[in-house]
Amino acid sequence: MSPACSWLQSLLMVAWLLSWKWLSAVDGTAAATVKVGNISKVEDAQNYHIYYGQTFKVIKNAIDGKSYLLIQSDSRMAGRTKYCTSRIKSFVIPLSNFSADTNGFPVSFFELLGLLGSMKGMTSNSVASECVLKLFEGGEINMINKSEPQQFAQFAAHFVSYINEMDQPPSQVCNFANFAAIGEQTPLQRAEWIKFLGAFANLENRANQVYKAVKDNYLCLTKVAEAKQKSFKPIVAWMEYQNGIWSFTKETYKLKYVEDARGENVDGSINKITYNISNPDDIEDLHAILCTVDVVIDETYSWDPVGYTQSTFLRNINIEDHSCFAFLANQSIWRYDKRIHNLTTLDWFDGAVSQPQLVLADLIEILFPTQNYNTTYFRNIAKGEGVISIEPSMCDRDSSTAMDPTIPSCG
Ligand SMILES: *[C@@H]1O[C@H](CO)[C@@H](O)[C@H](O)[C@H]1NC(C)=O
Ligand SMILES: *[C@@H]1O[C@H](CO)[C@@H](O)[C@H](O)[C@H]1NC(C)=O
Ligand SMILES: *[C@@H]1O[C@H](CO)[C@@H](O)[C@H](O)[C@H]1NC(C)=O
Ligand SMILES: *[C@@H]1O[C@H](CO)[C@@H](O)[C@H](O)[C@H]1NC(C)=O
Ligand SMILES: *[C@@H]1O[C@H](CO)[C@@H](O)[C@H](O)[C@H]1NC(C)=O
Ligand SMILES: *[C@@H]1O[C@H](CO)[C@@H](O)[C@H](O)[C@H]1NC(C)=O
Ligand SMILES: *[C@@H]1O[C@H](CO)[C@@H](O)[C@H](O)[C@H]1NC(C)=O
Repeated sequence: MSPACSWLQSLLMVAWLLSWKWLSAVDGTAAATVKVGNISKVEDAQNYHIYYGQTFKVIKNAIDGKSYLLIQSDSRMAGRTKYCTSRIKSFVIPLSNFSADTNGFPVSFFELLGLLGSMKGMTSNSVASECVLKLFEGGEINMINKSEPQQFAQFAAHFVSYINEMDQPPSQVCNFANFAAIGEQTPLQRAEWIKFLGAFANLENRANQVYKAVKDNYLCLTKVAEAKQKSFKPIVAWMEYQNGIWSFTKETYKLKYVEDARGENVDGSINKITYNISNPDDIEDLHAILCTVDVVIDETYSWDPVGYTQSTFLRNINIEDHSCFAFLANQSIWRYDKRIHNLTTLDWFDGAVSQPQLVLADLIEILFPTQNYNTTYFRNIAKGEGVISIEPSMCDRDSSTAMDPTIPSCG
């Protein structure tokens, strides 16, 4: 379906809902005092839109093609309208409680909104959040069994996060809402999904405020990086090793981070993405490319992150002659597994999605080291830097209060 067509479709739906509302107003049943509350405007994100009526909102989710009709609980509509079709689902808001599929859900968005108090279920304790772990430990959040769909029914909404059609849950599950921040192309677009969640809780003001703080700081940091830029930008390679093959990233948001930190992506200058380390020609090509690289970000998955060191990296690239490697001479080989829970769950997939300004600040420090900024998400394996293990005891605020975004100094 073309974007224009789906846009038109949602416009028609809103028009239909509005006319329905007017009709009920004419027949005197609507509460005339209900006003449109605070609203969020989606400025950067591409994959959802929010439309506001007086007693309801409609979120159009371009990732799963569904519209979520959010009905204010104090409206008459709440008691009599329920949708659960392949195109539209309804929710009564503000949600009295919710659960999340924590096998890959960035719960930090809930924390920034102050919503952990109504988070009552999760599908796994693989979460990189001190405070969610603490609530789980204290029995405030219960574990739900993914294989027993009826367990989801007890919540006003169950948040999932997928971007592929094939991961889509069965459509008869009426309370599933798909939070697809990771489907966006740029770091700020991903972070703006806080407004999507805010709409379910009537927390538009908070969502707007957090996003503004994050965006302002992010943009300010890009200016700082611009000022630091030298005549030759440092060359950065995001690279990953799997089954004998090294590949350079094609993920747009990662490339964007490097651009915004005023580095240059190696990808722009090579015409091949994958290199088979059993193939001598590939090794030679990879060797030549690595001789141009100033900073390596090694994304290789490891079941033993603590044991993944510089020697692991060097072994994996299978190149004997290291003499031309600037990233070795300058000790700049990084991994994004610095903050990790139970040696398995990376905060890179959680906190780093909702707070991209921290990732950018890290990268600026990596590209233009000052030595007086401690990175949040990246650790330097060339300097033997270790991981920080995320534990429930590290939750140092009242979990029911909102977490404030961390704003690195910019000036
Ligand atoms: C709008 O936001 C303000 C500040 O957060 C809040 O006090 C007010 O209740 C909100 N209004 C509605 C209708 O949600
Ligand atoms: C989850 O539910 C499935 C299907 O009912 C069951 O086989 C499994 O043992 C349950 N897992 C746990 C951890 O309770
Ligand atoms: C969640 O809220 C609903 C009302 O929307 C209530 O019926 C249900 O008992 C609550 N569930 C939990 C687990 O708190
Ligand atoms: C890598 O190259 C080796 C030797 O040519 C070959 O056996 C292997 O299948 C290749 N691996 C992949 C994933 O293509
Ligand atoms: C190493 O880093 C320093 C700054 O930390 C920089 O001035 C120098 O150009 C870098 N050298 C190489 C070979 O990348
Ligand atoms: C840590 O991860 C391992 C392996 O995935 C798992 O078996 C174990 O239950 C986890 N421990 C905790 C405390 O979550
Ligand atoms: C960085 O972390 C170390 C160790 O925790 C601490 O001693 C140092 O003060 C921190 N530096 C900055 C600039 O925050």
